[in-house]
Amino acid sequence: MTPAPPADAAADWTIAQNWPAYTADEHARWDMLFARQASQLRDRAHPAFLDGLDLLHLSKPGIPNFDELSERLHAATGWQVVAVPGLVPDAVFYHHLSQRRFVAGNFIRTADQIDYLEAPDIFHDVFGHVPLLADPVFADYMQAYGAGGLRSLEFAALHRLARLYWYTVEFGLIRTNGDLRLYGAGIVSSHTESVYALDATVPLRLRFDLARVMRSPYRIDSFQAQYFVIDSFEQLLRTTLDTDFAPLYASLADAPDVPIGTLLPGEAAQFNAA
Ligand code: PHE
Ligand code: FE
Repeated sequence: MTPAPPADAAADWTIAQNWPAYTADEHARWDMLFARQASQLRDRAHPAFLDGLDLLHLSKPGIPNFDELSERLHAATGWQVVAVPGLVPDAVFYHHLSQRRFVAGNFIRTADQIDYLEAPDIFHDVFGHVPLLADPVFADYMQAYGAGGLRSLEFAALHRLARLYWYTVEFGLIRTNGDLRLYGAGIVSSHTESVYALDATVPLRLRFDLARVMRSPYRIDSFQAQYFVIDSFEQLLRTTLDTDFAPLYASLADAPDVPIGTLLPGEAAQFNAA
């Protein structure tokens, strides 16, 4: 059963962003985070992410105003950004995605949490997630993901879909023109992991495979020990949209999880330098 929203939220859990309430310090914190990450990502993020930053005018000084941002984003792909009070129930989250609404926190990390925070803030949510929503193919993937999430609840397979989100939307890598690039929001919004994910020799970099991802647990408290690499957003959209997940969930019922950082027999870490 879905819990009721807090008293100050609407029935769909949205709240006002309350943009005028941000302090000068908070705007300055956004600007610092933005400048640092935009320059670091120039030759690390997928070009569609960088194009999204430009198209949505995210370099405009100060914390983005969701109304203004949504207007540009809606013109590009029909998506909008709405504020919620932190994490919302899964069904609420999936429902918004299936309606092309991305839910974002409206608060920004404090000065002592600049490089590490436990709950996603507006910098992670907006800088990390929103630029790719301006890409038509990725935009369709996120909507399909939301619809698939609602469906997964009927099969008690939420954890399978959460893993798919984790290893694509949050921590995905993509090979483009022979080069590995970042696209996952959890990586691009992290000053340290956006270097580690591409440069460190430690983590496994595996070819994206839907069933494999669904058998792969993840950790939320440190850099990832493994990443999955897609060839294109079209590949991601097509393989997920064209697969009926119901039989897949059924076939995975007896498949054990693959421990983090280990390979299956015969599997290779395709994208690790030799
Ligand atoms: N095809 C999936 C299903 O049958 C839905 C889905 C699409 C999930 C795209 C994720 C991404 O449930
Ligand atoms: Fe996120």
